[in-house]
Amino acid sequence: MIYSRIVGTGSYLPANVVSNDELARRVDTSDEWIRARTGIRQRHLADPAQKSSDLAYEAALQALAAAGTTAADLDLIIVATSTPDFIFPSTACVLQARLGSKRCPAFDVQAVCSGFVYALDIADKFIRSGMYKRALVVGAEVFSRILDWEDRGTCVLFGDGAGAVVLAAAATPGVRASVLHADGSHAGILSTPGHVCGGKVTGDPFLRMDGQAVFKLAVRVLDEVARETLALCEMKPTDVDWLIPHQANVRILDATARKLGIAAEKVIVTVDSHANTSAASVPLALDVAVRDGRIKPGHKVLLEGVGGGFTWGAALVEM
Ligand code: ACO
Repeated sequence: MIYSRIVGTGSYLPANVVSNDELARRVDTSDEWIRARTGIRQRHLADPAQKSSDLAYEAALQALAAAGTTAADLDLIIVATSTPDFIFPSTACVLQARLGSKRCPAFDVQAVCSGFVYALDIADKFIRSGMYKRALVVGAEVFSRILDWEDRGTCVLFGDGAGAVVLAAAATPGVRASVLHADGSHAGILSTPGHVCGGKVTGDPFLRMDGQAVFKLAVRVLDEVARETLALCEMKPTDVDWLIPHQANVRILDATARKLGIAAEKVIVTVDSHANTSAASVPLALDVAVRDGRIKPGHKVLLEGVGGGFTWGAALVEM
C-alpha cells in the first residue's frame, strides 16, 4: 500500500499587524465587542503590492526546507485560494514559476475556507494512486482585498496569510482518512457575489455574510464531519491528540470541541492573533503548533475546514 504523509510545514504572515483598536478608528466597533464575539485580538494584512502567490511562496519555501526537499522534486502543486492573483493563470502556476519547479502539474482549488482540506484530500488521492510521490499543498489568501471596510459585521473577522505542507509517499499513513462535503443550497449565507463582465466588476465585489446562519451551520457540520472521519479510522474523539478546526471564531472552535467531547487544551487556536485567514487558516495553525513543539511526530491531528459554498471536510493525519 502507498500512503501520503506530511513531511514538512511552513507558513507566512504579512508584517502589518492591525489591532482591534486600530480597526475601531476606521469603523464603528470596539476591541471589547470583537473579542467577546470572536476571540480575535488582531490580524495581519498584506500590503497593497502583495498577492496571494507572494504569501504562498514564503510559506512554500519554509515547508520545502522543513521537508528537506527542493521545488525541483515536486510532482504536484495545489494552491487553495478564493483570492487568486488573477482570474487566470492560476495562483498555483504563478507559484510554480516562482519556485522554479518546471513541468509539474499545478492548479488552484476554490472551496473558500475548506480549500486546504479539499486540496490535501486531492493530493493524498494522487499520491495513494501511485501517480505522484511529492506534492506541495498551500492555502493562501488576501481576504483583505474582498472586504467592505465599512461593513463592521464582516471586516473585523478576517486576515491575510498562507500555510503550506509537503506531502510525500510513505509506507505508513500519514493521512489516515479524509472526507469532503458540499451543499450549494447554502450559497447565499456567505458569498462574494460580484463577477467580471464587459471589463468591469458587475454586482457586489465584497464578502457578504449572514453571521448567525453561518455560525449554526459551521458548528453542526464540523461535528458531523469529524465523527464521520474518525469512524473511518475506527477512532473516538478522545483518541485525537490535537484538533485544528478552521479558525473562524473562538466560539465556533469552543462549541465544536465541546460537542465532540475534546478538551479545550487539545484545540490549536490561532484565530486570536491571525483572525480568519480562510483557506490558509488550517495549515497556518498546523505550522505554528509544529514549530512551537506541541505537535510531535506520531501525534494524531484532526484537521477540519468549513466555508462558503457551503463546503466542509476533515482529515485525520498522523504526523
Ligand atoms: N462591532 C460592534 N457591533 C457590531 C459589529 C462590530 N464589529 N458587528 C455587528 N455589530 C452589531 C450589530 O449591528 C448588531 O447591532 P444591533 O443589535 O443594534 O442591530 C449587534 O452587534 C449584534 O449583531 P449580530 O450579527 O446579531 O451579532 P452576533 O452575535 O451574531 O455576532 C458574528 C456576529 C460575530 C459575526 C457571529 O454571528 C459569528 O461569529 N458568526 C460566524 C461567522 C463567521 O465566523 N464567519 C467567518 C466566515 S465563515 C467561515 O469561515 C466558516
